[in-house]
Amino acid sequence: MPSTISPPTVFPPTTPEHVLAFQFSSWYPRFAAQSIKSTIVRPLSEEFLEYLNADGVFMPEGADDIPAESSLSDDEKDDESDDEPRRTFAFPELDARIREAVKDYGAVFPKLNFSSPRDAAWMLPAGSPMKCTSPADVYMLLKSSDFVLHDLDPAQLFEGCDAEGGVLPEYKLELVLRKWYPVDRSRELRCFVRRERLIGISQRDPNYYDFWNEPQTQRKVAEAVQNFWEEHIRGKWESTEGNYTFDFLLTRDLARGHIIDFNPYSPKTDPQLFTYEELLALLNDAIASPNFLAEFRVVDSPSHPSATRNAPAHQHNMVPIEALMLSSGRNVEEFADVWQQELRRSTGDHEDEER
Ligand SMILES: Nc1ncnc2c1ncn2[C@@H]1O[C@H](COP(=O)(O)OP(=O)(O)O)[C@@H](O)[C@H]1O
Ligand SMILES: [Mg+2]
Repeated sequence: MPSTISPPTVFPPTTPEHVLAFQFSSWYPRFAAQSIKSTIVRPLSEEFLEYLNADGVFMPEGADDIPAESSLSDDEKDDESDDEPRRTFAFPELDARIREAVKDYGAVFPKLNFSSPRDAAWMLPAGSPMKCTSPADVYMLLKSSDFVLHDLDPAQLFEGCDAEGGVLPEYKLELVLRKWYPVDRSRELRCFVRRERLIGISQRDPNYYDFWNEPQTQRKVAEAVQNFWEEHIRGKWESTEGNYTFDFLLTRDLARGHIIDFNPYSPKTDPQLFTYEELLALLNDAIASPNFLAEFRVVDSPSHPSATRNAPAHQHNMVPIEALMLSSGRNVEEFADVWQQELRRSTGDHEDEER
């Protein structure tokens, strides 16, 4: 009997294996040539996981590029920690890997298996978000981020999955160090693929841009994305039954681009200027019509709801720097050193050339 394909629901069913297909080390080797140069450090030690889970923002020992200076003697330091001495951490091997990547790439953009600490981007100098040039920069972002906590907890990671017999696959934490670029957010797109059909393309930056509202530009870019997808991506996601989204960064001439990331086709992935119900309707159109072309959405008016949301992104995660310092106990001086260094560096910052 011929097998029947059931009509699609808003979200495809997801298994833990599908989720794992989206961790960086799973997809990057297949798409390295179309993406950004990256180094994967995997697996990370149990101690590093404990460091990330520990309360407060504090640096491991030896992470700084300048020797820690303190006016306090060792005795005085010990006095501070009467009640509950903070456990100290040191990751000399990881520090070395980070320094090596910084040397190779100029600066790095860090993330874990799935998530980057972009909710902590404000910790580093404005104008060059997430640009790390030392192990301390990387640790400070990771420790200040709520988003990366998602990657530490298998319960969250596999939430909503249909796990066969309730058994979860093995999961190992990884640190990804990507070459840092001055990404122009206006040229970032999120593209939605379901049952291996490209159905929707959305602008990612919530701001209004004149150039995105030229019909000719929209046509040209939709075509460039379609061609790129057919040439480099289509057919390579059998492991998730052709369900995924990809984030794409266009080159300055809007004719080509690079893959920034892949995300599951699931409620955890922001549908940007679409709703998942609208994407389902587009999928049904695509199934019904052989000449279907992906719908392209941009912020089409300066008064568009996304464009008028003028609060800084991830504002909810901002806490006064003093609070962070207090929570970090006796490492206040270390933290302040790093912070001062960042501020000094930000004044002499230059944007790199574009990829
Ligand atoms: N190598 C990089 N250099 C600079 N900025 C980057 C780099 N990679 C990503 N970004 C920026 O950070 C954003 C989030 O990156 P992404 O890898 O998708 O993390 P997440 O999966 O947590 O959203 C991207 O949309 C882009 O604006
Ligand atoms: Mg992502």
